[in-house]
Amino acid sequence: MPHRITLAELNGRDREGFVAALGHVFERSPWVAAAAWARRPFAGLEELHAAMVAAVAAAGEERQLALIRAHPDLAGRVALAGRLTPQSAGEQAAAGLTALSADELARFQVYNAAYKERFGFPFVICAREHKKDAILAAFPVRLANGRDDEIRTALDEIAKIAWLRLSDCVAAPSPR
Ligand code: GUN
Repeated sequence: MPHRITLAELNGRDREGFVAALGHVFERSPWVAAAAWARRPFAGLEELHAAMVAAVAAAGEERQLALIRAHPDLAGRVALAGRLTPQSAGEQAAAGLTALSADELARFQVYNAAYKERFGFPFVICAREHKKDAILAAFPVRLANGRDDEIRTALDEIAKIAWLRLSDCVAAPSPR
């Protein structure tokens, strides 16, 4: 990440400027940053992250599902076509998903389809915290869960993704 913004700078921004800096932290869902803005000033990165996670928790199931569905499949069609957001592209590369064998790629495609068929939303796991083998091992385990558990797990993984994205773009600790 070329430029990291300070917490002091973020705390001083209007809503539009705040969203311009942090709108990408939750995949294609800038409304999360917009909702967290009302809770500023933030004394630390953890507090900012907690406000964003709280905004998701307060949003209701419809918007939570829309947030989950905003995530691209791992090694999916959008990834193969090179049309991921820059953050997503980096995350998938970190997990080793840009160097899959034909057999591994086929397994991802079968699992992605089975998961979406069962739950109606894509499989989300924090790709920067899991290598491809761990992700492939997680699929059958998660496929055996109930839908409410999977919504909760997806939102937990999204919170981890957001933490890493925030740490990338905000300079910490804040000058006070
Ligand atoms: N889909 C499943 N996992 C991930 C992830 O870590 N990042 C993104 N952008 N999309 C995902």
